[in-house]
Amino acid sequence: MADLLLTDVAKSYGSVDVLKHINLDIKKGELIVFVGPSGCGKSTLLRMIAGLEKITGGELQIDGMVVNDVPPAQRGIAMVFQSYALYPHMTVRDNMAFALKIAKKSPEEIDAAIAKAARILQLEPYLDRLPKALSGGQRQRVAIGRSIVRDPKVYLFDEPLSNLDAALRVATRIEIAQLKEAMPDSTMIYVTHDQVEAMTLATRIVVLAGGGIAQVGSPLTLYEKPENEFVAQFIGSPAMNLLPGKITGTGQQTTVSFEGGGTAISNYPSNDADMGAQVNVGVRPEDFVEAGEGQPYAFEGTVDITEALGEVTLLYFEKQNDADPVIGKLAGIHSDLRGNKVRLTADPGKVHVFRDGESLLYRQGGLEKTATTTNLNVSVH
Ligand SMILES: Nc1ncnc2c1ncn2[C@@H]1O[C@H](COP(=O)(O)OP(=O)(O)O)[C@@H](O)[C@H]1O
Ligand SMILES: [Mg+2]
Repeated sequence: MADLLLTDVAKSYGSVDVLKHINLDIKKGELIVFVGPSGCGKSTLLRMIAGLEKITGGELQIDGMVVNDVPPAQRGIAMVFQSYALYPHMTVRDNMAFALKIAKKSPEEIDAAIAKAARILQLEPYLDRLPKALSGGQRQRVAIGRSIVRDPKVYLFDEPLSNLDAALRVATRIEIAQLKEAMPDSTMIYVTHDQVEAMTLATRIVVLAGGGIAQVGSPLTLYEKPENEFVAQFIGSPAMNLLPGKITGTGQQTTVSFEGGGTAISNYPSNDADMGAQVNVGVRPEDFVEAGEGQPYAFEGTVDITEALGEVTLLYFEKQNDADPVIGKLAGIHSDLRGNKVRLTADPGKVHVFRDGESLLYRQGGLEKTATTTNLNVSVH
């Protein structure tokens, strides 16, 4: 039940900078998800918030108080890890009671806290079982229960579902969403590398990359209005296509011509200074549609491989030069397109234009830049 404020937070190990210029304003009741490639510093940032890792620069405030030097136990934070590490010889009830007994809480308080946690997590039927008699998902719920009973101000989760199999991950993800709903005032920070978890759970997602924050925003903001090529390609699967092009018309609508001949128009303005600039045009596979006979098109290519997934078919086009193959995702089954020349087009409202890796929309000031975005220097290729 707390606000967190990170101001220019940094972490270095000796001369190696792992994170720098982390600015984040997290409000009470939010569920913030940290995503980013492996090794980008997600766990490190979480551990600094918990107090398990020293902050080497900047300031962390919890509820208006600087806590840089406050020990973990006094921060009012509970952390749930990937490995749930329950005490095997203790029942579910005793596992959850353990920290409260150490804190010398009265038996009445302990019983009440366990009853509440068991109700929220639907663990009531299992309170007297040992961990070995529980499924993986139930054990993970007990691990979460151990933090709920302590009534922390902030919950931190570090990839809590990554040890579970696919079906259980989905079920437990939904349980975490319900858990958040049952505790609307609690502040949660959740680390994952799974973008479905990020998209479905988060009130806001923080994309970490290259030691900084690439973008902060609601899941749909990141999907619809990525500020840079990194976020554009990190969120969404398969990743957004980036096609090389050139700005050939400026004004209220940016006109981009592709080397291959097609034209894409984005629905936002550009300056005359952008005329002739080399850009990358971003189109998500799902935003491509087949161009009708004789209609204008943005992309033309020969289909190399098709993957029919039932509701959609992925078309992988023959590679041009060394670039990643262009991918289209068309509704329905289109296995017959393999080997064919296909023309695709996209709604201009769904076309993104990137100059020097940064969205033209942001360069034009069409949208207010995320206050926390730092000078990002990440390479996508
Ligand atoms: N104790 C340490 N000493 C030196 N480097 C470390 C230490 N702990 C983590 N790192 C480095 O910090 C970076 C971020 O690690 P981590 O936060 O675990 O990444 P993530 O959780 O995003 O996969 C990695 O490059 C890792 O090698
Ligand atoms: Mg990690």
